[in-house]
Amino acid sequence: SGLSRLSILPNGLLCVDNETGKIVGVHNDSKSAPESLSALLKQWVGKPVDESEIKSVRLKDTQFLMPGFIDTHTHAPQFSFIGLGHDLPLMDWLEKYTFPHESDFKDLDNARNLYESAASFTIRNGTTCAAYYATIHLESCLTLVDILRKRGQRAFVGKVNMVQNAPDFYIETLDETMDATVKFIEEVARTRPEGVTQDSPLDIVKPIITPRFAPSCTMECLKKLAKVAKEHNLPIQTHLNENRSEIEFVASQFPGSDSYAGVYGEAGLLTDRTVLAHCVHNTEPELKMMKEKNVGISHCPNSNLSLTSGMCDVRRFLLSGFKVGLGTDVSGGYSPTIMDAMRMAATTNRALTAEKIASKTGLNEEDTTPLGVPELIYLATLGGAQVLGLESQVGSLEQGKQFDALLIDLETENSPVPAENVTPSVKNEKNALTKWQRRIEQFLYLGDDRNITNVFVNGRLIHSL
Ligand code: GUN
Ligand code: FE
Repeated sequence: SGLSRLSILPNGLLCVDNETGKIVGVHNDSKSAPESLSALLKQWVGKPVDESEIKSVRLKDTQFLMPGFIDTHTHAPQFSFIGLGHDLPLMDWLEKYTFPHESDFKDLDNARNLYESAASFTIRNGTTCAAYYATIHLESCLTLVDILRKRGQRAFVGKVNMVQNAPDFYIETLDETMDATVKFIEEVARTRPEGVTQDSPLDIVKPIITPRFAPSCTMECLKKLAKVAKEHNLPIQTHLNENRSEIEFVASQFPGSDSYAGVYGEAGLLTDRTVLAHCVHNTEPELKMMKEKNVGISHCPNSNLSLTSGMCDVRRFLLSGFKVGLGTDVSGGYSPTIMDAMRMAATTNRALTAEKIASKTGLNEEDTTPLGVPELIYLATLGGAQVLGLESQVGSLEQGKQFDALLIDLETENSPVPAENVTPSVKNEKNALTKWQRRIEQFLYLGDDRNITNVFVNGRLIHSL
């Protein structure tokens, strides 16, 4: 489960504690397991386990388990206009589509309907954890929290802050935005399910400080938000260096700052719990500051291509040791699934790599090595967990982590993954490892929700086909 190493256990055995949803243990070869399951369990748990309390399931040859997908950047209200306006550049798209649609979320019925469908869609497509932007409206932010708790999807939810450069029907004063932010944090804490403590992985939905982006906030507002994040020990999410004219606009709005990242740095918003979406066009000094602060990068390849923003060089971020995860960025990105984000990340990486080779601007061999399957899956799972500060709880199927997982079946009705019994050389494939490598690679490029038959968070089944 490392960056370039994907552990595949063709005969693995995984045990989950039903009560806590924790992975009790993983055995890499069930065929060479100790005499009995109970002996193995005794080893893991440290005391005998009553046989009658063990429920075991054997997977079919076409099924496998994998960690759930983590979406490090998406906008829940923007499911309402998905697919629209991709011929517009970012700032025009925000004005024409985003702000009017988001302003409709002052209507709670509208919010409830659309948030329910956003949750259904992402869960069905295997997103077990997501970092959501909601809107500026306190009540509908709380509605989103409530829906996600009921559905069982792990999430961060951000009440968006916007005090300038926004239409008069979708803007707040500084006092309003700060008040609502603190109330939101308090309400999410107050309504936490009974018996669940704040740091427990069973507390699945948490607040995240969400200044929309520098243009929407004054320096005073950004500083106050950084202070709230610090006081309440919360993560932070925002947009950075997405689009050229956005960057120019930031320079004109914040003439006292030497760069876009510098605006956030000056405000105190760059921390090791900050998630920065896009980061397409960065200067060297910005990268240096971002690395020093140990921020996380949310790579949103569909959005970057669809809104003509540019291409983020994930290979270089990884080579520099940044935490990197994937974001769908609905609806800058038109696809809400992390499977699409993996493919778009691959495509973006191939295009950049071809360009580096053609123009001889590759730094070294590693810089021009295309992202492989292990790296793409890493970005979609463990990388995302690191960006969100959840790597001790989720992101991989390892002992001690929560069972946030997907059961994949490659032979469901209308499965888009090619059946393999048509080719004699594949049919006769003897090596289980190469067989699973091939299957996982084809699933990555061709699979979809028809293959995601079960979705678990904290060991609890939250979706099944
Ligand atoms: N920058 C500020 N707001 C947004 C948004 O909603 N989507 C995207 N893609 N970029 C933004
Ligand atoms: Fe975004």
